[in-house]
Amino acid sequence: MDIIFSAKWIKSDLDSGIALETGHIFPVRPVQKGRNGVTDTGLDFTKNFTCKGGVKKAELQVTALGIYAAFLNGSRVGDFIFAPGWTSYEKRLQYQTYDVTAQLRENNSLSITLGKGWRFLGTDPETVTDGLSNRGAALLAALKILYEDGSEELIVTDRSWSVTESKIRYSNIYNGDIYDAGFVPSAPVPADEIPRGFSTLIPQQGEKIAETEILPAKELIITPKGETVIDFGQNLTGYVKFNICGKKGDKAKVYHAEVLDKDGNFYTENLRAARQEIHFICDGNPHTYKPLLSFQGFRYIRLEDWPDEVKLSDFEAVVVHSDMKRTGYFECSDKNLNQLFKNIVWGQRGNFLDVPTDCPQRDERLGWTGDAQVFCRTASYNYDTEKFFTKWLADLAADQGEDGCVKHVIPDVLNGNGGSAAWGDAVTVCPWQMYLTYGNKEILERQFESMKKWISFLQENSTSYIRTKGDHFGDWLNLDEEVGGKATDKVYIATEFSAYSTYLVVKVGKVLGVDVKEYETLYDNIVAAFRKKYIENGKVTENTQTACVLALHFNLCEDKAAVAAQLNGLIKKYGHLTTGFVGASYLPHALSDNGYAETAYDLLLRKEYPSWLYPISMGATTTWERWNGIRPDGTFNDKGMNSFNHYAYGAIADWLYGVMAGINTDENAPAFKHTIFKPLTDPRIDYVKASIDTRHGLVKSEWRREGEKTVYTFTVPPGCTATAIIDGNAREIGPGTTTL
Ligand code: BGC
Repeated sequence: MDIIFSAKWIKSDLDSGIALETGHIFPVRPVQKGRNGVTDTGLDFTKNFTCKGGVKKAELQVTALGIYAAFLNGSRVGDFIFAPGWTSYEKRLQYQTYDVTAQLRENNSLSITLGKGWRFLGTDPETVTDGLSNRGAALLAALKILYEDGSEELIVTDRSWSVTESKIRYSNIYNGDIYDAGFVPSAPVPADEIPRGFSTLIPQQGEKIAETEILPAKELIITPKGETVIDFGQNLTGYVKFNICGKKGDKAKVYHAEVLDKDGNFYTENLRAARQEIHFICDGNPHTYKPLLSFQGFRYIRLEDWPDEVKLSDFEAVVVHSDMKRTGYFECSDKNLNQLFKNIVWGQRGNFLDVPTDCPQRDERLGWTGDAQVFCRTASYNYDTEKFFTKWLADLAADQGEDGCVKHVIPDVLNGNGGSAAWGDAVTVCPWQMYLTYGNKEILERQFESMKKWISFLQENSTSYIRTKGDHFGDWLNLDEEVGGKATDKVYIATEFSAYSTYLVVKVGKVLGVDVKEYETLYDNIVAAFRKKYIENGKVTENTQTACVLALHFNLCEDKAAVAAQLNGLIKKYGHLTTGFVGASYLPHALSDNGYAETAYDLLLRKEYPSWLYPISMGATTTWERWNGIRPDGTFNDKGMNSFNHYAYGAIADWLYGVMAGINTDENAPAFKHTIFKPLTDPRIDYVKASIDTRHGLVKSEWRREGEKTVYTFTVPPGCTATAIIDGNAREIGPGTTTL
C-alpha cells in the first residue's frame, strides 16, 4: 500500500544552529563558513492529531532527502537507524513502512527529526531543484489509520505540519553532533511545501540499518599527555551511548579515535578533516545520549570537560551496520589466524553500513567500487549480503554513465569520475559472485544491461583490444617500488580486467540463455592481444607479483607453470608479498591453484611486515588499509591515507574458506547445491573448521591431524551433493556428514 504518494514534500529553511568550523572535506566539498551545510541543525517536524475512534490498524510510510527518525507519542517508530539509507537519491530513494497500530492513542503527536545525513555529499550546493537546494533536506510521510468501524483517515506531510529547530544544534556524518539539552526553540513555524515529485521513490530494497551489538567500556586510561580516554577494546562503527549530568551550560566533549600513538596518546590525525566529535551541553538534569543522525569509526574516546566523575559504567559503544544475517565461520589451530578472521568480520561490520564503504572514520566513507569488488566473495560467505548488494548494484547501474562508465564510488558523489580498471569491474564481479553464493538469477537479469554497457565502454577505451585509455588506480598501495621495483603497468592491469569482465559477461549470458557469441569472440581477441603484448617465452613481461597473479587467476597465460614459477620466484626473491589492492586478494589462490600451496601458507603465516598477520602482531582488531598503517617502530604511516578499518585486504578470507577449509561453489549448481570440497593442509596447522549457512542449509568442512593421519569431515545439506577432492582424488558425497 503506497500511501506515501498522497503526501507533499516538506522542508524548512530554519537553521540558526551552531556553526562548526571545519576544514576541507574530501573530496567533494570544500566547506566554507556560513554556507548551507555548515550549521546543519536538526529539524523537528510535528503533526498533532486525534483518533476518531477505535483503531484497527495504522501504517506509517516515511522517506527523506537526508536522514529521518520518527517518534510517535515520544517513542521511536521502528528500529531502522539512519533511515531511509543511502542511495543515488536523484534516481532512487527508498521509503520505509512501519506498523504503528500499538503506538497510537486518542491524542497523538507524530514528530520526525530530520538531518542532512549523507545528503550533504554531492554536487553543486547552489543548484536549486524543486525549491530545494541540491544538498538541502526534505521530508515526506503519510500515516493511514484504519478504524474499527471500517473508515479510514490519512495524515500526510503538508503545510499543516509545524517545524522547530531541534536540540541537535549541529549534526554531520563526518563531524558528529552538538546537542544542547537546554535549548528552547522559538515558536513553531509551518513547514514549506515543495513541488517535488515521486518518480524516484522505491520501497525499502536493502537491509535495514540497525544497532546490532552493545560493547561495554573496557578500560579507563589517563594517557601520558594527561588525556582521559576510554577503550572499548574493539575498533567499530557506530556511536557511544553515555549517561551525563552537568550544571546548566556545562559543555562536555567526546572525541573518537581508532588508535593510540606509540606513546599511548590519543591519535586523530588519520581522520583528516572529519571531526568525529560529540558536544553535549548540559541543562542541569541527568540525560542518556546517543547520536541520532551521525556515526563514528572508533575504538577509543577521549573526554574533555566531563562535568562529573568518569565512570566506565556510564559509557557503552553501540555497533551499527546493515542488519545482515551472519552465515560464515572459520576457526583453526593458529590463534593469529583466528584473530585475523575475527578482524575481517569486524571490518565488514564496520563498512557494510547500507553501502560498502572504504572506511567508516575519515572524511570519506564512500562506496568505493574497487574495495567492494575484491571483498564481495568473502562478504557473501561471512554474511547474507544478497539484499545488500542487490540494492547497491542497482545504484551502480543507475549512476552508470551513458557511455557505460562505472563511477568510482556508488552512490556517485565524485562528480561522475569513474572508469578505473578493477574498480569499475565491480559491475561484473559482484553480481556474478552473488549468483555463485546465492544462486538467484534475478540479480544477473537485473544487472546484465549494465554489464554489457561496461564492456562497450572498455572497448571504446581500447586500441586493438589493449585498454590504452582510462583513469586507473592501478595496483593501489602495492609495495613494488618499496622493494626497488616498478609498479605493475596500469594498461596491463586494465587489459587483464577487460578480459575478465568480458569472460564474466559470457558466463552470465549463458546462465540467462542469451546468445553471447559476440562476447566470446571479443574475449578471444582480448586474450590474443594480451598474449601478444605481454607474454614472452611463457612468462609475463611485467615482472611483478600482481602481474603474474592476474595472468594466472584470470587464465590469461598459456604456460601456467612458467608464470607460477615466475610468481613463486618473485616471492622468494623478496621473502614476502609486494601486491596491493588488486593483486593481494588473488595472490594465495594463484599460488595454491598452481602447485605452490606451501608458498601461499608461508605468506599467510608470516608475522613480520608485510603480511596479513603483521597488523595482528601490532594489536589490530580490524583490517588495516595499508600493510603497515603502524610501522614496526610504532610510528604511523602517512596520515592522509591511513585507515585502520578498511576491509579490502580482508579478502584473504576467500582463501581461508576456499582453500584452507576447501569450501567452494560450483558454477553449474550454484548456492552450494553442489559443493566442491578441496582442502589443502599444511604441517603448521593441526586443525581447521569452517561452515557457511547456505541457501540450502549448513555446509561444513573440517580437517584435523590424528597422529600420522588427517581426518576430513564434510557436511552437505539435505538434497545437495558434493565432490570431495583430497590429494587429487575426487569422491562424490551426498547429504549428511561424511568422514574420510
Ligand atoms: C579509498 C580506497 C579507494 C581508493 C581509490 C581511497 O581513498 O580509501 O579504498 O579504493 O581511494 O584508489
